[in-house]
Amino acid sequence: MPLARATEFVDLRNLPPMDVIFGRSSMMAAARGKLEHVAETTVPVLLQGESGTGKEVFAKLLHARSNRSKCAWVKVTCPAIPSSLIESELFGYEKGAFTGAYSTKRGRMELAHMGTMFLDEVGSLDASIQAKLLQVLQDGTFTRVGAQESRRVDARLVCAAKENLRHQAEDGNFRLDFFFRINAVTIDLPPLRQRAADLPILIDYFLDMYSKSYRLEPKPLSREITGIMQRYSWPGNIRQLENMIRSYVLIGDEECLIADLMPAAPTGIIPEIDLANPISLKEITRAARRGLEREIILKVLQANGWSRRKTANWLNISYRSLLYKLQESNVRELPAGPLKSMASDIQ
Ligand SMILES: Nc1ncnc2c1ncn2[C@@H]1O[C@H](COP(=O)(O)OP(=O)(O)OP(=O)(O)O)[C@@H](O)[C@H]1O
Ligand SMILES: [Mg+2]
Repeated sequence: MPLARATEFVDLRNLPPMDVIFGRSSMMAAARGKLEHVAETTVPVLLQGESGTGKEVFAKLLHARSNRSKCAWVKVTCPAIPSSLIESELFGYEKGAFTGAYSTKRGRMELAHMGTMFLDEVGSLDASIQAKLLQVLQDGTFTRVGAQESRRVDARLVCAAKENLRHQAEDGNFRLDFFFRINAVTIDLPPLRQRAADLPILIDYFLDMYSKSYRLEPKPLSREITGIMQRYSWPGNIRQLENMIRSYVLIGDEECLIADLMPAAPTGIIPEIDLANPISLKEITRAARRGLEREIILKVLQANGWSRRKTANWLNISYRSLLYKLQESNVRELPAGPLKSMASDIQ
């Protein structure tokens, strides 16, 4: 990618509104407090959180809220640049520094002068690059590849990591000195499963946004599906929610959400077949059906907070029929915690 395209200007109007970004959960209130405290300073900030929790949104917000907002925002996705190129990408090079260096080129660090440099997935950087960045943080100097003299740059560093960088540093997989420099302030972004109170705000925001952009008018989501969403674990966090709502707006049917919110049906439903003896097709099919039903019922029970009434409704079978099927498939013998209490009350 040519370096000129590496810079952007961040417009707050392209970010979700503040009440959507922060919602109303206390963990986000803590993150907001830290962000507001440091936005106007030049202190390096480390954003930690699972994939899709909004690290880039926060990094852009930090930039947009700082007095650097009129200058460049430069994002570097560290693992996307091969380690053989990263030094010249970040710090630039002089003409003749290596084969193919026909002219002098500025690196992304220089492009971020007076602005913000966002290092995404910083945990993947090699120790030698960390050392060069440490130098920038210490005295604002660096050298282009192949250069003799050092240069000065004033760029605010914001880093993001999915993994726990402290642990990585303590295990010797990340420089401790660099870690202590970049985590002057750490903002932890909570996973969506810990922000159930914010789900309705986010759902409404994405519904509204995609309805407008596709000019479609989907029905509001049912209480059943929003209940299941509240209990879902959201491994892909807000990005996953956004993708789901986009699909819903396009398809207009909650069925497309159920497939994602319910864990996949088991693949090993064909029972062991003893080829040494004749078998009854009827018997073996019945056993397979029971196994499949059992798996489905357990998933739906789990998604419905172990409520048998809701599960029966959801599966469109009677309550009695659900109890019968649970007994028929020997659910009582399962050892897991919530199942045990449930199993004891189906007797
Ligand atoms: N608090 C929020 N409110 C509304 N939308 C958000 C929020 N946080 C993130 N999003 C949206 O979710 C998507 C993912 O956000 P973002 O790219 O910032 O996550 P990330 O933590 O950087 O993810 P990754 O680790 O995978 O790079 C984006 O489309 C973003 O606009
Ligand atoms: Mg990101």
